[in-house]
Amino acid sequence: MSTLIVESPCRLQGTVNISCAKNAILPIIAATLLTEDRCRLEDIAALEDVKVMIEVVNSLGAETNLDGANTLEITAKKIERNEASYELIRKMRASFLIMGPMLARTGKVKISLPGGCAIGSRPIDLHLKGFAAMGANITLGHGYIEAYADRLKGESIYLDFPSVGATENIMMAAALAEGVTTIENAAEEPEIVDLANFLNKMGARVKGAGTDTIKVEGVRELKGAAHSAIPDRIEAGTFMVAAAATRGDVLIEGVVPEHVKPITAKLKEMGAEVNEYEKSIRVNATERLKSVDIKTMPYPGFPTDMQSPMMTAMCVAKGTSVITETVFENRFMHISELKLMGAKIKVDGRSAIVEGVERLSGAKVRATDLRAGAALIIAGLCSDGPTEISDVYHIDRGYINIEEKMKGLGASIIRV
Ligand code: UD1
Repeated sequence: MSTLIVESPCRLQGTVNISCAKNAILPIIAATLLTEDRCRLEDIAALEDVKVMIEVVNSLGAETNLDGANTLEITAKKIERNEASYELIRKMRASFLIMGPMLARTGKVKISLPGGCAIGSRPIDLHLKGFAAMGANITLGHGYIEAYADRLKGESIYLDFPSVGATENIMMAAALAEGVTTIENAAEEPEIVDLANFLNKMGARVKGAGTDTIKVEGVRELKGAAHSAIPDRIEAGTFMVAAAATRGDVLIEGVVPEHVKPITAKLKEMGAEVNEYEKSIRVNATERLKSVDIKTMPYPGFPTDMQSPMMTAMCVAKGTSVITETVFENRFMHISELKLMGAKIKVDGRSAIVEGVERLSGAKVRATDLRAGAALIIAGLCSDGPTEISDVYHIDRGYINIEEKMKGLGASIIRV
């Protein structure tokens, strides 16, 4: 199992290109199950999570071709199996996104319960409530969920929480349902808009994506489509924070500045200079950052996926910062690792109180989840002495060539 070693502190400088968004491409791969035609996804990043999603659609009978690691073609001419195994769902919770497309296309799906997760219990009740409201017959037993429906029926569905996954799953199911489905209190994330754009290219009738009310008028069938997913706002945010925390000067290219507004706003409040261009952002910090208070919220609030990288910036900022996690319970696993590196953090319920120190000190730490791993790389860049990060597979799930991209900015980082 590989380890990343951040050898010494570094002021990041230069230009980095952002890859396509993991959280956009995963539901889009699931959506290709809605048609028997060929779909073509361009400029994709062959991340570990993307590979798992490909494995999932393959296991159901789709034919896939990942050409040059950048273009993915998927043809789900025939669905040969209706069951997604425990092994695949356990590898990646987002595999659950096949439930909506499978139910809509074949009227039948059996899928393992996603189970627990390092960042909280993450239930799927909202997905299931949506399918049930649309007429699906759902049974749970022996760790599996089975759902049947002749043809799903459009319904008005109010989500108790604007869940990203539930909004996507219901949108995909509704695309082939009979009549109009209205999703209220829907998630508004840019990845939802991207999925809606892809579905509409396939011939679906989705309106309102990006607002809290989405209307989907079901159609009888969908056709193949080509698409290039949006840039990864979390990868972009990670480099923005890394640039600011290391008092660096980095041009982040291939980003939609609007999508990273909450990060831009907080970095400016911390004293970094952030300049937005049409498709790029430059982050420049000459002084030590100042403390700031942050609360994670659904989009357009501050993203929970940026909570841990931002906490690292707070660890080396001047003064005391408070970060409150409202989206996931138990998303503070990185704190014990940051403390090993000399960070001063106290947890009070859902809030972490971070007293900034001048420098962290390198240590042996563990990436407890994907974003926690990114936070530890940034911590390594702000530390004296080497930082050895284990369980790097978590980082590879969502960041492509992270060490190459960091090296391109001057970081001394190796994989062993
Ligand atoms: C997606 C993202 C993840 C991000 C999260 C929040 C993907 C593949 N993953 O995850 O990176 O951190 O959005 O921005 O896009 N909830 C329920 N019942 C449900 C569904 C969710 O209670 O049926 C709760 C969850 O436990 C959590 C909150 O809602 O507390 C947000 O979850 P959700 O928006 O669904 O996140 P994901 O789609 O799993």
